[in-house]
Amino acid sequence: MLWQTITTIAVVLLGPALAQTAKTYPFPSSCASIAASKYQFSLDSTWKATKILGGSALKQPRTIIFDTAGNLLVLQATKGVSVHTFDASGCIASSTVIISNTRLNHGLTLTPDGKTLYASSETTAWSWSYDPATMKATNQQTIVKSISTGIHSTRTILVVPQAPNYIILQAGSNGNWDYAAGSASAGRAIVKVFDLSKVPSGGYDYNTAGAVLGYGLRNEVALAFDPAGNVWGAENSGDDFRRTMNGQATDIHIDNPAEELNYLGDPLNPAGTWFGYPTCFTAWSAIQSLKTGDQFVVTPNTSFTDANCVGKSTPPRLSFPAHSAPITNIFDKDGKNMYITMHGSWDRNPAIGYKVVEVPFAKLASGLYDPVATRDSQKGWNDIMWANNVGSCQSQSLTISSCLRLAALAWDPSYSKLFVSSDNNSEGEIWVLAKK
Ligand SMILES: *[C@@H]1O[C@H](CO)[C@@H](O)[C@H](O)[C@H]1NC(C)=O
Ligand SMILES: *[C@@H]1O[C@H](CO)[C@@H](O)[C@H](O)[C@H]1NC(C)=O
Repeated sequence: MLWQTITTIAVVLLGPALAQTAKTYPFPSSCASIAASKYQFSLDSTWKATKILGGSALKQPRTIIFDTAGNLLVLQATKGVSVHTFDASGCIASSTVIISNTRLNHGLTLTPDGKTLYASSETTAWSWSYDPATMKATNQQTIVKSISTGIHSTRTILVVPQAPNYIILQAGSNGNWDYAAGSASAGRAIVKVFDLSKVPSGGYDYNTAGAVLGYGLRNEVALAFDPAGNVWGAENSGDDFRRTMNGQATDIHIDNPAEELNYLGDPLNPAGTWFGYPTCFTAWSAIQSLKTGDQFVVTPNTSFTDANCVGKSTPPRLSFPAHSAPITNIFDKDGKNMYITMHGSWDRNPAIGYKVVEVPFAKLASGLYDPVATRDSQKGWNDIMWANNVGSCQSQSLTISSCLRLAALAWDPSYSKLFVSSDNNSEGEIWVLAKK
């Protein structure tokens, strides 16, 4: 009840803030001082793209957001946060680093009133007071601390739009197999909700504080709100899997397990749903009698078989090919489509991913949003931007690659231009995309 009341009040208060008009700019057909795209890519014929930022000053752009004045904010991993203004043609006019912090590595979000900025490192989330007029961030405070470390270091952070005192904050598993993360108390493979109106001195302890929105989520880097305020996550599932049946091990890693699109629901009524990791995984291609979207255990035994996942683990609403590596998702204004960057992975040869996809959604009679494709579909999306010759793309590490590695996604305030980044360490790139 309390949560509902807070939501109602927030929506009423939020109205004027959201109505505040940010400046918007035209789609630039080219930007004179910007070098050509480093790698070949293709676009769906109904879309166009122009590169607006690049060069050695752009380091691992992992998250892009807009402030309430219409300026672009970029989280550059291992560097900090930069702000970029536009000229009248829609190209970048100026770039300034406003937060220098080599620990920042992925998450960045702003309250709808534009006044409070949050960003994350592997272990910590901080807040700053932000002024869109001066483009300055001041008064750094720790809001969440002591997040576990491990192979998955990104900590996606998002303000809950309908109740901006709340944030959601994600932590992945600490390894490919993190058995302790089967319990929410481990504080890993989890998405938590924190009330920032009550931050204790020095910040919340991630593992012991906050409400559990979902767990058993191996690495839910991509998190987004649909227009009804419910959370959807896209999951990076396991690497190098072998399935052992009756003592016989089979390498299944080329096509399984599937990457997942999970429905986490209302962050103001956190359900604490278990999504299966590290026990129940999702089939992409047929494994024995399993079909796409069915969940399975890697080594069935007498006490736990695939059938035991049903009813215990919440399966994904949609699946994607293994090792696509979804890392950002975002809805369009009306919730008709979700866009996802597929970063690509080292664990598949030929490679897959290295693209931006559009997942069609529909608004149900209940007012909830849901993908158009059925749960067992292998065609729940359309490609809109993709690396040429994707099969030969190589990723020697998270940020070194022979192809563009699509990372951030953000709509401009008019929801007509979609900004997309590639997060190379030595030379990041940002494009603006729009429908023709
Ligand atoms: C049986 O499989 C389940 C699920 O993978 C696992 O948790 C359990 O430890 C296994 N039991 C034995 C005896 O190996
Ligand atoms: C990506 O980074 C690596 C080294 O960090 C470099 O060799 C490669 O050329 C970079 N690609 C681009 C497009 O900058």
